[in-house]
Amino acid sequence: MTDLRAAGEQAAALVAGHLAEVPAGPVWQPVPDAERAWLSGQELPEDGRPLADLLADVRAHVLPHPMGNGHPRFFGWVNSPPNPAGVLVEPLAAALDPSCAGGDHAGPHLERAVVRWLAELVGFPHPPGGGLLTSGASMATIVCLASARQRAALADGWDAREEGLAGRPPFVLYLTEEGHSCLHKAAQLLGLGARNVRAVPVDSAYRMDVAALRAMVAEDLAAGRRPFCVAGSAGTVNSGAVDPLDAIADVAAEYGLWFHVDGAYGALGVLAGGAAPHYAGLERADSLALDPHKWLGVPVGCGCALLRDPAAARAAFSLVPSYLVDDNAGELGWFAEYGPEQTRPFRALKTWATLSSLGRSGVVRLVEHTTGLARTLAAMVEQAGDFELLAPVTTSITAFRHTPRAGGLDALNRAIPAAVQARGNAFLTGTRLGGRDALRACFLHPDTTERDLEILLDEIRLAAKAL
Ligand SMILES: Cc1ncc(COP(=O)(O)O)c(C=O)c1O
Repeated sequence: MTDLRAAGEQAAALVAGHLAEVPAGPVWQPVPDAERAWLSGQELPEDGRPLADLLADVRAHVLPHPMGNGHPRFFGWVNSPPNPAGVLVEPLAAALDPSCAGGDHAGPHLERAVVRWLAELVGFPHPPGGGLLTSGASMATIVCLASARQRAALADGWDAREEGLAGRPPFVLYLTEEGHSCLHKAAQLLGLGARNVRAVPVDSAYRMDVAALRAMVAEDLAAGRRPFCVAGSAGTVNSGAVDPLDAIADVAAEYGLWFHVDGAYGALGVLAGGAAPHYAGLERADSLALDPHKWLGVPVGCGCALLRDPAAARAAFSLVPSYLVDDNAGELGWFAEYGPEQTRPFRALKTWATLSSLGRSGVVRLVEHTTGLARTLAAMVEQAGDFELLAPVTTSITAFRHTPRAGGLDALNRAIPAAVQARGNAFLTGTRLGGRDALRACFLHPDTTERDLEILLDEIRLAAKAL
């Protein structure tokens, strides 16, 4: 233990030093061949090594090769920098090392509080037990869609867990082509079949066409299929679009569909001034996926599934073997009864620390700052003669493309992200939007400035010239 105290002090210095140095370094650079070989090719040591030696290796071979998301000019995918309070408590969660499957210890109790906080932040109804932390939104989506599937089966007088889906009318899920791939993965994993996932058309702002949704549901019903769930987006990954949630909720209510909202990235956008009307109807959903490890900056991984009716998740997952029966568990039982994971890490501590350190006002400031950056970049793009805005800005993503010439724009914009990344001064990623290759910048970092946006556009120009 004296060893741990001394090494722990060194580790704390390494953490603080690393976080302080990140903004001055390149955003990202490729891992050199020798380092890649060291990292991936090493042999398991025969004898154990001192903690100080391990730290020396981390300092020499791990910390110099970050993904880049700690840097204020990292605009790729949806990866935030770690909140310092979240970083601070990670070793303490590891020192306690509980399983938050359930039981009477700090972890599960704290999880009850943070899940409630998350629901309250975005105005989602929260009955006791109405949610759990997950590894991320992919797992949260599995929790929500499995709940929807079992609820629909039970409503039809059968049990999907007991019988499987064979011989039943196909369950149909509706989402737009902008719906996240994790929804498709969940549908496939739950045995729904990719062919039973409908791509509802979008309008010019990449929002679900609700009239088309209604028509597709009616057509599936007429053909003897079983529409069971519609998934709207509160912040798509491509452009940050928020679907017309209220109108989707109307269709869900009319046809008895489970209404799921993917707010993994964008649900917190409701907190930005003036944004609330875009999110109207969110509070009518049956379930909501919301990732603390995205906009909030809780260190990876932490997602959250919020459920209007906790009993739906319990009906889909509860399976308590005799060795786990806990007579003191109380009415809500164990978290492990609400999702697929049995042993569950102490995700609540870093989430609690992050939220407590920011406070509600800090979360609002972060959301307003980053949505403001996305709007500013959109304005800069519209003013520039060599860029084109591809979607309206609703959250903190700007979707655009570089248009320095008339032809070959798909190929050019497809090549730009890697070329920008390689220069090391900014990091953005691309996508396909409305049939075109697009660039997208996602703002999540509290320290990004408007000057960084100018640098980003200049970096794109310079990278494109060299292509
Ligand atoms: C809108 C949206 N939904 C779902 C996901 C999946 O989340 P996770 O990677 O936490 O599983 C993402 C990831 O970027 C996302 O942006």
